[in-house]
Amino acid sequence: IKGDPASIVIFGGSGDLTLKKLIPSLFNLQKRNLLSENTYILGVGRTNLDSESYRELIKDALNKSNKEVNKLLEKIYYLNGDYTDKNLYQNLKIKMDELDEKHKTNYNRLFYFATPQIVYMDIIKKLGNNGMLKKTDTIFPKVIVEKPFGSDFNSSKRLDKELHNYLEEEQIFRIDHYLGKETVQNILMFRFANTIFEPIWNYKYIDHVQINVTEDLGIGSRAGYFENSGLLRDMFQNHMLQLLALVGMEPPAQLDAESVRDEKYKLLKSVRPLKVEDINKKIIKGQYIEGTINGEKVKAYRDEKNVDPNSQRETYVAAKMYIDNWRWSGVPFYLRSGKRLKLKNSQISIHFKEVPFSIFSKNKLKPHKNILTLNIQPNEGFSLNLQAKQPGSKLCLNDLNMDFRYSEFFDFDPPEAYERLFLDVILDDQTLFVRSDAMETSWEIIDEILQEWDNNPDILHFYKSGSWGPDISEGLFNEDNWVNPG
Ligand code: BG6
Repeated sequence: IKGDPASIVIFGGSGDLTLKKLIPSLFNLQKRNLLSENTYILGVGRTNLDSESYRELIKDALNKSNKEVNKLLEKIYYLNGDYTDKNLYQNLKIKMDELDEKHKTNYNRLFYFATPQIVYMDIIKKLGNNGMLKKTDTIFPKVIVEKPFGSDFNSSKRLDKELHNYLEEEQIFRIDHYLGKETVQNILMFRFANTIFEPIWNYKYIDHVQINVTEDLGIGSRAGYFENSGLLRDMFQNHMLQLLALVGMEPPAQLDAESVRDEKYKLLKSVRPLKVEDINKKIIKGQYIEGTINGEKVKAYRDEKNVDPNSQRETYVAAKMYIDNWRWSGVPFYLRSGKRLKLKNSQISIHFKEVPFSIFSKNKLKPHKNILTLNIQPNEGFSLNLQAKQPGSKLCLNDLNMDFRYSEFFDFDPPEAYERLFLDVILDDQTLFVRSDAMETSWEIIDEILQEWDNNPDILHFYKSGSWGPDISEGLFNEDNWVNPG
């Protein structure tokens, strides 16, 4: 569906996220003819630029120069100012009125918060006090909030309260870019459009589930953010718990935003919050030291630019979690994510139980557990591991993999997650955005650990860059192991 006309205001207009992700996504939407002609993009930021020099910056970021780029540049403007200065918002109002008129946007107004979260409160208050967030018969302002949404349970509640002072929930779009990924959306199709898996998708047949989101990159130039955040906030509170919710939730009544989000919320409500006594037993905190990745030597986290040489910040977390409800009683969910691991890969694997009785045991053959793997990225697709007879005269079992790759079946070039999400905001579809209650619950699940790790640095487990994380993480399992991709 093509997007409606829209006024897109991006706070943090000259920042990394905007230049690397947001603008390229809008550009792709335009190329796919999904961005209405009656749309403009107004970058707002502290960097001293005018519209002309901003367009140059965008051109560089897109790294192209052609008719399509020029078409986008015609829609782009810039407003320079300090987020704490109320004049900025008065100027913004004047500018938007003028541009809405010029581009005939129908006053479908989007305010994207792509700034450091420290200025969120200022922006909300000042936009709100200037009357720019008020829903009227003709204007429907929407706010898109990037993560981190707060830094713990209490601060996220404060932020949410401030947003709700000026906005209704339907106007707030909390972004988790993992939900915009094609293969993440496929989890719902896979589960609820096939008869064969759903009857066995429960504690009776599933032994355990693994969610692995590993990265080979380090923190790059994001020390300022990462030193305050750490991996539990950066990846677990949002992406990892959202993946868990999609794998574990009940079928929604319908495929509409509220039904889907009701079920995700219910699932998260059933996740057993992690406690201080779980540290090192059910949750492991790791940090990378130097090592080699793809033949290249890389630094330790503590040696990265602007990182405290004694930093206790975690760049790796592995956890064993439980969902206390009927479907999942007693089934461990193992979640692992980290920087500077051997490979970049995101996958969910469902490990089924062993056969109840093995007729092969007299022959000393032990069938392996069946594993269904959903590959989120790269190699998008899924595979099912089965046991089969190995051809030959002897009785011999072997693993057999049924592999399905999107790229081989569909002409698949996965769109950037932000493309889908931008389009959905323009079209007022909240399905792929995180509702207030789910966001709060995700913080609740990890809050005790966050406080403990912040205030009372516990044992930090170091791991070599290029490895699969600290050895102690294997101890989370009774008899299985982490599935390492590659
Ligand atoms: C972001 C995190 O949300 O997700 C980053 O802040 C992380 O630290 C990134 O690198 C991973 O996203 P993707 O889409 O590359 O898997």
